[in-house]
Amino acid sequence: MAEELIIKGETKEERYAELLPQIEALMNAEADPVARMANAAAALKETFGWLWVGFYRVIADRLVLGPFQGPIACVSIRKGKGVCGTAWAEERTLVVADVDSFPGHIACSSASRSEIVVPLMKCGACVGVLDIDSDQLATFDDTDALWLRRVADLVVA
Ligand code: SME
Repeated sequence: MAEELIIKGETKEERYAELLPQIEALMNAEADPVARMANAAAALKETFGWLWVGFYRVIADRLVLGPFQGPIACVSIRKGKGVCGTAWAEERTLVVADVDSFPGHIACSSASRSEIVVPLMKCGACVGVLDIDSDQLATFDDTDALWLRRVADLVVA
């Protein structure tokens, strides 16, 4: 397993394409879900420098904060609440260009301006979410949704 990430691409697509096999190698090195989420969050944060990258895990009737990189965050989110709870309830990726325009957005950090949340789907069930916040408006698009779906699938594989 590589000891450090090697990312040379300049475009977002190039960087994702280089990162994905490195995340896959990291995942293959350890079966424990917390260790996998921890390194996936670190790899994404290091590659893209977003404000906050992390995971929430489904535990009973709520999402509970898991491994993350960035400022401290809310620890518990109910199903259907905020962007994360909505992505869980609807089992689909949500791309939010302006968090202030999302009804019920939960502001863990006042610096967050846009967000993407990707559900972690395992055996047809949502077992958590990958949540990423940016301090810029409209950071995330369909390219991020596509590649982050692949990252999420690797984490739970
Ligand atoms: N903004 C999220 C809450 C989690 S933090 O962004 C880390 C939401 O609305 O669900």
